[in-house]
This record gives sequence, C-alpha cells and structure tokens, in this order.
Amino acid sequence: MGGGAHHHNLLKQGIEVIRDFQPLPEILCYPDELNQVWTNLIHNAIQAMEGKGQLQVRAYPQGSEAVVEIIDSGPGIPAELRERIFEPFFTTKPAGEGSGLGLDIVRRILDKHQGRIEVESQPGRTCFRILLPLS
Ligand SMILES: Nc1ncnc2c1ncn2[C@@H]1O[C@H](COP(=O)(O)OP(=O)(O)OP(=O)(O)O)[C@@H](O)[C@H]1O
Ligand SMILES: [Mg+2]
Repeated sequence: MGGGAHHHNLLKQGIEVIRDFQPLPEILCYPDELNQVWTNLIHNAIQAMEGKGQLQVRAYPQGSEAVVEIIDSGPGIPAELRERIFEPFFTTKPAGEGSGLGLDIVRRILDKHQGRIEVESQPGRTCFRILLPLS
C-alpha cells in the first residue's frame, strides 16, 4: 500500500487504520500506477477526516474481480458535488492544498486497467470501491 512520510505524519494525528486484506490471485497490472491510486484515495480520506477518525482499507476477491475499498469516517461528499469530483481541477480545498487532479489521475489509471470505481458517501462514511478484473 502506498503512503510515504507525508501520510505517516498525517496518521500520527489520531486516525485509526483498520486493514482487512483477503488473499487475492496475482493480477496483471502496472503496480506503480495502482500504488498512485491507493495513495491518492488514502490522501483524500485522511484530508477529509481532518486528523481524527477511522480509515479502513479492505481487499477481497469477488467473482472475476479484485475489490479494494478505502473507507473513511469523514463528513462525506455532498450529493450535488458527487458528479463532479472526478473532473480534472475540481477541488473544494483551499488554493495551494489541492489541485483537483487526484481523482482524475485515479480514473485514468483505472481505465488503463479496465477497472471501475464506485463511490458511496454519507456523513460519517465514505467508501471508494475499486474493482479490477482478475486475469
Ligand atoms: N474521501 C473524501 N471525503 C470527502 N470529500 C472527498 C473525498 N475524496 C474526494 N473528495 C472531494 O473530491 C474533490 C476532488 O478530489 P481530488 O482528489 O480529485 O482533488 P483534491 O484532493 O481536491 O486535490 P489533489 O488530489 O490534486 O491534491 C476534493 O476536493 C473533495 O471535495
Ligand atoms: Mg486528492
């Protein structure tokens, strides 16, 4: 799972991390690019929680796909913004903090892997679910 020193520092502030990884068959992929996907989603989750909350990372096989879920206990994504979050340069963060490219990059990397992303969000629980085809 990606996460350099920057994430480590953010995690120290009081975010509980819960991992639940079930065995997955090997998949044909661009590992560095998928690491960018996890990193971008975890970064968003941590930023949304503003230093306090619960981050869950799960992986499990489901039918012909590998499923990865990044779930945070933050305030959620307002329904009227949900359509727009994957647009390049769409951000709700102050200038200098977010460029609005994180989810655009995620979507482009998943397209390259014939993968999909689903979002479920309500206050207190936001889940980004990535589905990747097993070879
Ligand atoms: N887990 C989340 N909880 C709440 N809002 C989120 C979450 N993830 C994304 N968003 C919303 O989607 C917007 C777009 O996310 P995206 O990652 O593309 O850009 P960003 O985080 O604003 O900037 P960057 O990723 O370039 O630093 C965010 O500004 C935020 O409003
Ligand atoms: Mg981001």
